[in-house]
Amino acid sequence: MKTVFITGANGFLGQHLTLYLAAKGYIVIASGRGRCRIPLSKKFEYAELDLTDKDAVYQCLQSHQPDIIIHTAAMSKPDECNNNKKLCLVNNVDATENLLSAARSFSPHFIYTSTDFIFGENGPHSEEDQPEPLNFYGESKLMAEALVKKSGLNYSIVRPVFMYGAAWEGMRPSFLHWVKNHLEQHKPIKVVNDQWRTPSFVQDICKGIESIILYSAAGDFHLAGKDIISPYQMAVLVADVLKLDRSLIEMVNSESFPEPVKRSKRSGLKIDKAIRVLGYAAVSFEEGIRLTFPEQFKA
Ligand SMILES: NC(=O)c1ccc[n+]([C@@H]2O[C@H](COP(=O)([O-])OP(=O)(O)OC[C@H]3O[C@@H](n4cnc5c(N)ncnc54)[C@H](OP(=O)(O)O)[C@@H]3O)[C@@H](O)[C@H]2O)c1
Repeated sequence: MKTVFITGANGFLGQHLTLYLAAKGYIVIASGRGRCRIPLSKKFEYAELDLTDKDAVYQCLQSHQPDIIIHTAAMSKPDECNNNKKLCLVNNVDATENLLSAARSFSPHFIYTSTDFIFGENGPHSEEDQPEPLNFYGESKLMAEALVKKSGLNYSIVRPVFMYGAAWEGMRPSFLHWVKNHLEQHKPIKVVNDQWRTPSFVQDICKGIESIILYSAAGDFHLAGKDIISPYQMAVLVADVLKLDRSLIEMVNSESFPEPVKRSKRSGLKIDKAIRVLGYAAVSFEEGIRLTFPEQFKA
C-alpha cells in the first residue's frame, strides 16, 4: 500500500483525510503543528512538524519518503491573513516551498489544497478560468499554486469551497454547526443572501482526493458541491432538515456586514471536470446536512 504524508493533519480537512485514508488501508503519516488533535487510532502515525522550519521539514520527509504528499496546511482564515500578511506568506508560501524542495529528491505525487478564493467574481468557475484573487489569502494561495506548478514534481491542485462536515473536539466547527447551535439555543441569527457558493462536503473531498491518487490524475481539480446556494439558504435548509425554528434566521445582505476582507459575491466552482475525469460524485447540500449530523437521524 502507498505511503501518504498529510500536512495540516490537525485541521478540519486534515483530520477527515487522515482518518479516511487510514481506514482505506493507506500508510498515513499525519503531520501537524503541536500535539496530535486527531482522535487516537493505531491506524496512522503522527509527526509533529512546523512547516516553516525548513531543516525539520527536510529531515522529516527524508525519513519517510512518502509516495504521496497531501499539503492541506495553511493559514486559512482570510481576515487573519489580511491582518498579518508577513505571517501569511511564511505559512502559506514559504512552507509550501520548504515541502517542495525537500520532496524533489524522491519525487512524490504532490497534491496541494488550494481554494476558490484564487478566483474573483462571476462564479461558478471552471479550472480554465483566469485567477483574480480579491484578498491577500487568495493571493497567497495562488502564489503557492505557482510554486507547485513550477516544482517539476508530478502535481495535482485541489480546490474546495466553503467546506463543511462532521466536527469533533479539537476541530474548528463549520458554519452548519454555528447555525445549529444558535437555533437550538433559540438565538436569532443574521445571514447574508447575496453571496453564492457551492459548499463542499468534506467526505466528498476525501473521496475525490483518493480518486486523484488511484488514477494518478495530474492537474487542477475543483472538488465542490453541486448546489449553488447562498449562506441564508444554507441556514434555512439546516433549520428545516434538523427541524429547528427557521423564523430565527434573518435574511440580510453583505452591506449590513462590513467585512475587513473583500469576498466575491458570486463565487463557487464547477465540478464537471472532476465528474468526467475522476468519477467524482458530490452529495446534495441537503444530504450533506444529514451526513454532518448523523446522530440526529438515528431511529
Ligand atoms: N475551510 C474551507 O472552507 C476551505 C475552502 C477552500 C479551501 N480551503 C483550503 O483547504 C485547506 C484545509 O483547510 P481547513 O479548513 O482544514 O483549514 P484549518 O482547519 O485551518 O487547518 C489548517 C491546518 O494547518 C495548520 N498549519 C498552519 N500553518 C502551519 C505550519 N506552519 N506548520 C504546520 N501546520 C500548519 C494549522 O495548524 P494549527 O492547528 O496549529 O493552527 C491547521 O491545523 C487549506 O489549505 C485551505 O486553504 C479551505
